[in-house]
Amino acid sequence: MSGRATNGERAAMGSANRLKLGLFGANCASGRAVTRVPERWSGSWPDCLKLARMADEAGIEFMLPIGRWKGYGGDTDYQGATLETVTWACGLLAHTKRMTVFGTVHAPLIAPLIAAKQFVTADHIGEGRFGLNVVCGWNENEFDMFGASLRDHESRYEYAQEWLDAVKLAWSPAEDFDFDGRFIKLKGVRAKPKPFGGTRPVIMNAGASPTGQAFAIRNCDALFSNISDGISFDETARHVMNVRASARRAGRDIDVYTVGVVTCRPTAREAQSYYRHCIVDHADWRAVDNILAMRNVTPETRAPDEFQRLRNHQANGMGGLPLVGDPDMVAAQLARLADAGLTGIAVSFVNYLDELPYFCAEVLPRLARLGLRQGRAASKQAAP
Ligand SMILES: Cc1cc2nc3c(=O)[nH]c(=O)nc-3n(C[C@H](O)[C@H](O)[C@H](O)COP(=O)(O)O)c2cc1C
Repeated sequence: MSGRATNGERAAMGSANRLKLGLFGANCASGRAVTRVPERWSGSWPDCLKLARMADEAGIEFMLPIGRWKGYGGDTDYQGATLETVTWACGLLAHTKRMTVFGTVHAPLIAPLIAAKQFVTADHIGEGRFGLNVVCGWNENEFDMFGASLRDHESRYEYAQEWLDAVKLAWSPAEDFDFDGRFIKLKGVRAKPKPFGGTRPVIMNAGASPTGQAFAIRNCDALFSNISDGISFDETARHVMNVRASARRAGRDIDVYTVGVVTCRPTAREAQSYYRHCIVDHADWRAVDNILAMRNVTPETRAPDEFQRLRNHQANGMGGLPLVGDPDMVAAQLARLADAGLTGIAVSFVNYLDELPYFCAEVLPRLARLGLRQGRAASKQAAP
C-alpha cells in the first residue's frame, strides 16, 4: 500500500477481490479447533511467520489474531499459549508485503495513548497495513489477571467508545488536546507521529449484541458477525443489508465479514472423515466444557438436547461456519457467502500451515473462475 492510499482503500484491505479472505486465530496454540489431534496448531512464532509469508504470497488479504490472556485448560490447555497480538502484528508486518495484519486489543486493559502509539508504530512498520480489532472483554477470569473488573455489558461499550475516540484523536492532526470523558480524562495530549500516509488503520469489531453492532456501525470499517451453521442464506443476506442500511443512515459505510472453519480435502468423504476425527472423536471435551461453563452453559442450565447442540458447535472451531468438503464444495459455500452480501471471511484450519497450500492451490482458482477473486498472477501484479 502506498503512502497515497485512501481510507477506503485501506478498508478494502489492499485488494479489489469481491470475497476477501483472512486467517483467524493463528496466534493461539490450537488455533480455533478444540481438538487433541497431535497435528493441532502450535501457535509458535516460527509457524506464524511461515504462515504469514505463505498467505501473503497467495494474496490472502488479512490475518486476525485473538486477544486471549488465559487459555481454557482441558487436556490440551486449549489456547493456553498465545502471542500478544500487537507485537505479533509488528513482526508479521515487517516480514510481509501486502496483507493487513490486525491487532486485537481489549480497550479496558490498556491506556488509550499507549495503545494509539503502538498502533501507529505497527502501522509504520507495515507501511499502512496495520488493522485494529477493538474488543471490550468476554472472560471475567482474564480480567482478574489484570486486577480489572469486567463492566456490565452496556458500560463496556460506553468505555470502548471513549477509548476509541481518544485513540482516533491521538491519530488526528490535533495537538495538545484535552480529553474529558466520563471514564477517560487526558490533559495536553501530544501524539506524534501519525498513522502512515495520512490515513488511519482499518478498524473492526465483532459485536453480536445490538449494542455491540451499533458500536461497530458508529465506529468501524468492518463488522465481523459469527454466522453459525443453520442460519439461512436469507437471514444472512438480511443481516448484511440491515447493517449496511444502518451505517448508511449514519452517513457511514461498513463491510460485513464472517468467520469459518475449513476442512478441505480431495473428496467430500475424506473431508468429512477428517472433520469427524478432529472435532468429534478427538475433541478436547474437557476444554469444550470449560468454555461453555464460562458462558454459563452447563447441563444444569440447559435442556439435554440444547446442551449437546451447543457442545458440538463449540468443538467446531469455537463457532464459525464449518466449510467441509472437496474444493468444489468449499468454493461453492464461499460463493454463497459473497452472494449474501458478505465482504469476506476469516477462516481457521486445524493446522494452518499444512492445510493452507491445498486450499490455495484448489479453492482459490475456483473462486477466481467464479469471479470472486483475481487469479494469483493477476492479484500479484495488482499489488503495489
Ligand atoms: C471474529 C470475532 C473475533 C473476536 N475476537 C475476540 C477476541 O480476540 N477477544 C475477545 O475477548 N473477544 C473476541 N470476540 C468477541 C466479540 O468482540 C464480542 O464481544 C462478542 O461477539 C459478543 O458480542 P457483544 O460484545 O456485542 O455481546 C470476537 C468475536 C468474533 C466473532
